[in-house]
Amino acid sequence: MKNNIIIDKMSIDDLDSIKSVLQDEFDDFWNYNVFKEELKNENSYYIIAKLEDNIVGFGGIWKAVDDVHITNIVVKKNFRKLGIGNVILEHLIKIGRNIKNMKSITLEVNDKNLPAINLYLKSGFKKVGLRKNYYGLDENAIIMTLDLNNK
Ligand SMILES: CC(C)(COP(=O)(O)OP(=O)(O)OC[C@H]1O[C@@H](n2cnc3c(N)ncnc32)[C@H](O)[C@@H]1OP(=O)(O)O)[C@@H](O)C(=O)NCCC(=O)NCCS
Repeated sequence: MKNNIIIDKMSIDDLDSIKSVLQDEFDDFWNYNVFKEELKNENSYYIIAKLEDNIVGFGGIWKAVDDVHITNIVVKKNFRKLGIGNVILEHLIKIGRNIKNMKSITLEVNDKNLPAINLYLKSGFKKVGLRKNYYGLDENAIIMTLDLNNK
C-alpha cells in the first residue's frame, strides 16, 4: 500500500477534483476558497498523495523567515492507518530540509488529536509549547517542532 503511493505537487485542478468530498471524506479544516488562495501563495507548497490516480491525502507547508510551518496533513477517512500520513509527513520534512536557511519545522495540533500527535512524534517532532483555547474554549493547541539542525 505505502509503496504504491505517488506524491505530487497539488494543483488547482487537483483541489477542484476533491472539492465535493473535502468536507465528508477529508475533514474540512479550511473551506475550499481559503485553500484555493493558499495554492496561489508563493510561500506555500501543497502536495497530494495518490493511489491508483485517486487522491487519498494531502498536506502543506508555509514558509516563514527561518521556519517551515506545516499547515495541514489530511488522509481520506477510508485510507487511514495504512501509513499514508507518514509518507506525506516525511515528504514535507524532506521539502523543508531542502529549503535554504530553514532551522525548524513547526506545527500546531489539537491536544486531543492523538493520531496526529503520534504521527508527528514518530517522525521526531517534540512538544515545545501549549496555546490554551487556540481552537475554541477548552480546545488547546500543542506546538510541536522538529529541529532541522539536528539531522
Ligand atoms: C492524523 C492523520 C493524518 C494520520 O494519517 P494516517 O495515514 O492514518 O497515519 P499513518 O497510518 O501514517 O500512521 C502513522 C503513525 O501515526 C500514529 N497514528 C495514526 N493513526 C492513529 C490512531 N488512530 N491512533 C493512534 N495513533 C495513530 C501512529 O503513531 C502511527 O504509527 P504506527 O502505525 O507505527 O502506530 C489522519 O488520522 C487524519 O487525516 N486525521 C484527520 C486530520 C488531522 O487531524 N490532521 C492533523 C492536523 S494537525
